[in-house]
Amino acid sequence: MARAGGKVILFGEHGVVYGRPALAAGLSTVPTAELVSAPGLTTARLSVEPWGVTVDAIAPDASGHAPAAATNQLALAFGAIVAAYEQPLALHVKVKMELPSGAGLGGSAALSVAIVRAFDDALGIARSSSEAADIALRAERVFHGNPSGVDTAMAAAGGVAVYRKGQPLQTVVAKRRITLVVGHSGEPGMTKETVASVARQHAQKPEKVEQIFAGMEAIVNNGKSALERGDLVSLGQLMELNQKLLVTLVLSTPRLEEMCTAAVKAGALGSKLTGGGGGGCMIALVSDEDSGKAVQEALQKLGRDAFITMV
Ligand code: MEV
Repeated sequence: MARAGGKVILFGEHGVVYGRPALAAGLSTVPTAELVSAPGLTTARLSVEPWGVTVDAIAPDASGHAPAAATNQLALAFGAIVAAYEQPLALHVKVKMELPSGAGLGGSAALSVAIVRAFDDALGIARSSSEAADIALRAERVFHGNPSGVDTAMAAAGGVAVYRKGQPLQTVVAKRRITLVVGHSGEPGMTKETVASVARQHAQKPEKVEQIFAGMEAIVNNGKSALERGDLVSLGQLMELNQKLLVTLVLSTPRLEEMCTAAVKAGALGSKLTGGGGGGCMIALVSDEDSGKAVQEALQKLGRDAFITMV
């Protein structure tokens, strides 16, 4: 049984695609992957529960790209992983997804890392977390176009860490337990689209967007030291600031804004969207579990799903 974790981005989403740092925390809800007996199978097969989906791998063409006629993203992403093994893989892997997909919680990256680990286990391959993340990143490219690699790195390693493209994860030791409420807007997260939208803004006004990213980088650095000091008030303020910067890049939605406002009204120390935005999830920092319950109820009153998690 192979596992990999979801994540929340505390600070720095989108800037991380442009080489800035992001601060992320692993979630304890994990997809699990296992290989099942598949007599007569001639190609790699993937089943995902609870989606009720089964696909056979579609191999990238000689240039490494998707064949023109292929439209099934999951089969292509799976095919990108299978191709990395450079050998025929007639294996059937079943994944149980506990994470919502399209929520900005790193579900697709965790799915991919869990598959890599299940294959590695079956083939007796020992790989470091960062090597497993590198293979999973091939699938993330199919799902998301231009991923920074933060989701796959976090899915493979877990914990709390600062990620910067092309560099090893830098583990952060938080001085105290951090309680977060994660609320789902019910709108599908649109990471591929929002990353593309930021790319357009960056192409049009590079100085303005780089200035915003510089602000986010400062927030990540201050957030890291606030975590190390156990300074919840500063962390909450930094979340609010980060959210303002994300809003200037048109990454929030009226519903996410309504949820963030409701969370703070109900006692959260700060809140922001997490991940790609344009829908998906927001997070709210709370001082303890009781306060978390009040925030969770406020979000549920708006008709949104919400759960409490610890970092
Ligand atoms: C990652 O969860 C969210 C983005 O930063 C995209 C990426 O880093 O690949 C928006």
